[in-house]
Parts: sequence; structure tokens; C-alpha cells
Amino acid sequence: MAAFLISLPALERNARVLAQTAQESGAHMLLALKAFSTTACFDTLRPYAAGCCASGLYEARLAARHMGGHIAVYSPAYRPAELEELLSFAHHIDFNSLPQWQRYREQCLSHPRVQSGELLLGLRVNPCFSTGHTALYDPCVPGSRLGIPAEELAGADLSGISGLHFHTLCEQGAQELVDTFRAFEKDFGALLAGPQIRYLNMGGGHWITKPDYDRAALVELVREVRSAYGVEVYLEPGEAWCVHTGVLRARVLDIFDSLGYRHAILDVSASAHMPDVLEMPYRPDVFAVRPAAERATGTPAVQLPGESYSPAGQPGELPHTYRLGAPTCLAGDVIGDFSFAAPLQVDDVIVLDDMTHYTIVKTTHFNGVPHPALQLLHADGRISTACELGYADFEHRLG
Ligand SMILES: Cc1ncc(COP(=O)(O)O)c(C=O)c1O
Repeated sequence: MAAFLISLPALERNARVLAQTAQESGAHMLLALKAFSTTACFDTLRPYAAGCCASGLYEARLAARHMGGHIAVYSPAYRPAELEELLSFAHHIDFNSLPQWQRYREQCLSHPRVQSGELLLGLRVNPCFSTGHTALYDPCVPGSRLGIPAEELAGADLSGISGLHFHTLCEQGAQELVDTFRAFEKDFGALLAGPQIRYLNMGGGHWITKPDYDRAALVELVREVRSAYGVEVYLEPGEAWCVHTGVLRARVLDIFDSLGYRHAILDVSASAHMPDVLEMPYRPDVFAVRPAAERATGTPAVQLPGESYSPAGQPGELPHTYRLGAPTCLAGDVIGDFSFAAPLQVDDVIVLDDMTHYTIVKTTHFNGVPHPALQLLHADGRISTACELGYADFEHRLG
């Protein structure tokens, strides 16, 4: 059966880097649950995370039940019952628009947790400064609904607001954050400097655990912001906790030729199990599992004893090229064209690398394709199964 296999030691390695960055900078480092919500891994992450960033009530409940610590919530819009419940346990609630803030302002300000200072309220602002290249992932594109631009904020009654939040980055370095902060500072610096603002949340998209990330620059910026503006700084990366910690292991179900293409059908789907491959889009690193004796040289995020990993190349680069496709009806449900050193066989195991973040949280039962199991590799080499969805889950979800 196909499986997402997550390495707990690899997660802990990333978590240590993030916790150290938090300690050096004085920032509060949250886990963005939208990227990764696998509670079976939270015992590993809890000692390192200051808490979670939640996209609404369900993620916030998950944070409260399974992680603890600080809960920062931001949603483009809150339902009345959702907001009522969030008021009872969240620590930051950030609003995306002035009408949302005005709608809930009285309710929030009269709440005892707000009056005691246990819960702070903020606004997501939009610095309108793009550093990304993919419009789908850029909250600063013209016409964005995410965050309030400075000119819309001018003259608004902000009494009761004590935090500002911007999220603009996606898989980016510290320099992009510095540049974004300077743009933010130009438009919102006076507000940030005022006595009412107590926190600044700089969102996610920071690739802090990548080897070439300039952590010193991030630390310097956070320190500067804390001392120049007297605010608490929050960072809420998702992907950075998970980079290079997990793989999706799939099996070859069929191989056939059609009009000049050699197809290999896998037991997983890009659309159902790793939709960013189609949406972003991106090409994952792929490996064929070989016996350890072959000494293949690939290094996927999770490696098992008795196996070696033969890295796939671009089409035509290695002798045997296949189009890796899904067992679904969607014509475009294709992971890509990959070449291999040796011919693939039915039942071979294929490893799709770096599949922890924005995968498990996004899966569907499209076409009734069986859901990959969720397995954890422990420090002692043991593999446990955290979750195995079956037919009953498929039937239940669809009503
Ligand atoms: C508001 C907000 N915070 C945090 C994140 C996490 O971003 P990443 O996983 O890229 O670090 C996102 C991602 O979309 C987001 O929208």
C-alpha cells in the first residue's frame, strides 16, 4: 500500500534549527498548521514550537488539543459562531478587512479575555510588495483579497487593535523578508511605532531550515524590529518545519506504451495526494527503490535499511523514460516524465521526495483512490502506522 513516511528525527532536526533561530532573534516561532497538521508528530515538535498558527476554528481547536502554547488565528473571514468560540481560547485573532473588524469589534472588546489582555486583536495588512514569481502564491498581486493595503486603512478607527500581521512570502530567503519589511515599514511604520501596537506577525514563507538560508539576517531584522518598535515578533512558517522530512512511497501498477510514450501508472495521484505538483506546479525529486547491494546513490528524505535509491533524471537523460501517471480519470493527473537507470517493473517502489508539507493536509478521495497510509519512522528505526484510511472513510466523507 502507498504511504506517506515521515521521519521524526528529521522533523526534530528542523525544529531545533527553528527553535535556535527563535532563541537568537527573540521571535516567537509558530507552526502553521495549514502546511502540516499531523498530530502524531506533535510530541516531537512541541518542545521547539511556541505554538501554532491556525487558519480558523478547526485548526485552532487542533492546536489547543494537541500542541498547546500560543494560538494565533487568521482567516479571510470569520463566521459568527466560529469567532465566539475562538474568543474563548485563542491568543491572537487577526482580521483581514475593516468590515470584519467592525462587525466583531464590540463583541471582541467586551470579552473578558480581551479586557484582561490574554487575547490580543490584530489586522492583516498588505504591503503590496511582491517578491514571488507565482501569482497563485502571491498575496500581493493586484486585486488580492488578503490583507488591508495602507490606503484602505487611512483614517480608520483602530482603537482595540494591538497587532499587525503580514504574510507575503513563499519559499523565500531572509533578503526577501528584509525587503518586504522595508516596504511595510514605509507604509505602516508610524502605526507600528505607536503605543497601541504590541505585536507584529511576519507570516510564513521563510525557508529558514534550508541550508543556504541566511539565518543571521533574519535574526538581525527581528532584533531590530523588537528594539526599534518595542513589539513582540511572531513568525509562522509551515514548510520550514517539514522540509526534507518525508516521502510518499508509491508502487508501479502498470507499464505500457502508447504512441511513443511509455507510461507507468502508480498507486498514487498528483491530484489527490500531492496537488501542488499540479497547482504550483513543481516537479518532485523521484527515486526508484533498489536493493541495498546495488549501492544506488540517491538521498531521499527518508531511507530504509536494505534499500538504496536510484535518482530519476530528466526525460532522455537516463536510458529508460516513463511518464509517471495516476490511477484516476483526470488526463492531466501526471507527476511528470522521468528517466531511470534501469527499466521499471510492475510492483517496483517509487519514492517521491519531500512530501510532508501541503500534501497530507490536502489529500482527497478523488476517484476513490485508496488513501496512502501515514507512517512514522522513529529514532530507533521502528516504523509505526499513525493512520490508515479505508473504504469506510471514503464512504463517510462523501455523505
Ligand atoms: C497567513 C499564513 N501564514 C503562514 C503560512 C505558512 O507559509 P509557509 O508554509 O510557506 O511557511 C501561510 C501559507 O500560505 C499563510 O497563508
